[in-house]
Amino acid sequence: MNERETWATRAGFILAAVGSAVGLGNIWQFPFKTAQFGGASFLIVYVIAALGIGLPAILAEFVIGRRSNLNTISAFEKLGHKNWRFVGALGLFTGFWILSYYSVVGGWVLRYIGGSLTGAYFGAPAKYFGQISAGMDALALHAVFMALVVVIVAAGIEDGIEKATKLMVPSIIVILGALAIFAFTLPGASEGYAYFLSPDFDALFANLGDIVPFAVGQAFFSLSLGMGAMITYASYIDGDQSLFGDGITIVFLNSFVGILAGLVVLPLLFAQGIDPNTSGAGAVFISVAGAFANIPGGQAIGLIFFLVVLIAALSSAISLLEVVVSWAIDNYDVTRPQMAILLGGVIFLLGVPSALDTAWLGWFDTLAYKFFLPVGVLGILIFVAWVYGAPALDEVMKGSGLGEGVGLTWLWLARTLVIVAVVATLVLGFQTLFLGESPAIIPPI
Ligand code: PHE
Repeated sequence: MNERETWATRAGFILAAVGSAVGLGNIWQFPFKTAQFGGASFLIVYVIAALGIGLPAILAEFVIGRRSNLNTISAFEKLGHKNWRFVGALGLFTGFWILSYYSVVGGWVLRYIGGSLTGAYFGAPAKYFGQISAGMDALALHAVFMALVVVIVAAGIEDGIEKATKLMVPSIIVILGALAIFAFTLPGASEGYAYFLSPDFDALFANLGDIVPFAVGQAFFSLSLGMGAMITYASYIDGDQSLFGDGITIVFLNSFVGILAGLVVLPLLFAQGIDPNTSGAGAVFISVAGAFANIPGGQAIGLIFFLVVLIAALSSAISLLEVVVSWAIDNYDVTRPQMAILLGGVIFLLGVPSALDTAWLGWFDTLAYKFFLPVGVLGILIFVAWVYGAPALDEVMKGSGLGEGVGLTWLWLARTLVIVAVVATLVLGFQTLFLGESPAIIPPI
């Protein structure tokens, strides 16, 4: 059996977790889902979901990880509840599932970095996206992106993931901040702010049943919850730091980067008179890329923008691969690089349909955030709050310096309101998933 690694520093763990959280979800999806569901109204529901459900849930994952110091499946056994390993197994499966298409989008981003250099997408952004998003090109770049992920994960926790994310996360925040300032200077940007930041409560309440499953699912996806990424990262913690403190920092920074991305993307689009409400996987690659074609210095701005998207995507993708690699090396007599390559290869193969046809990519994505992640979060919450109970409280209090009341509030919130909210989300999403004219659960064959 291999000696288990740990993070070198507390900041290393926090940055790695923020790196996992901040990703394509924040830049590729968040601003556009916000636009699709009425701007600020969605933002409000999202922030409530991230704080009210996401924070208690991330603490639950930290508890499992730090208490067990094991991967997302073996952890349940170590904590004395072997029968609950299925929750971890579902998480492992979801890790394969998400990374398979996430990496395809990562490949598109690589392509757009090149495209910014040459100005390739400037003339006809929609046509360009159509050409590169599916087919052999997309497949090749999916392979390149996966290879980058494998290299970082193979290097290990301290020397790979910790070192990489220590560099990546601050870069993401600084570069996005600079881009947001740039967007502010564009004429017409103010309409973007108005749309993003002033809520329409009538629209919010009229569409609440629609907005909630999207916003909550988005919060889970964005916080990397429900599939063991945070369990796995917390399993490498060595010490009694305050999990509350870490959780709040991570949730705050993740929402902050999502909002920052909105402050880049929406003013940019409104300044160009482009409707941000173009849903679908291509939005950032068509409308935002289209906007770069028309602004002074667009080529350089485009390059920087897609670079930051790449960094964010990579720092998340490594946490997805780590979930499965961690399980393999905890249980079998194999080395980390061997497993990173092998499992990375399997995930690459699973992503082939998504690389060849964006309909598959959309299907994988919808099932992930509307189904697998909420189900995973539900399983984790029921386990930690009801089944594990008292030791969970003990673990969450360790090193927190807080009164017992805070821990009890967390436990009881997790036991009641948070679980009810996750169930409600699943029920609301049920209609689109299983009923209706074209149920999302049916694969696009
Ligand atoms: N949180 C990442 C993002 O927003 C995606 C992710 C989901 C990463 C689940 C790990 C686990 O892009």
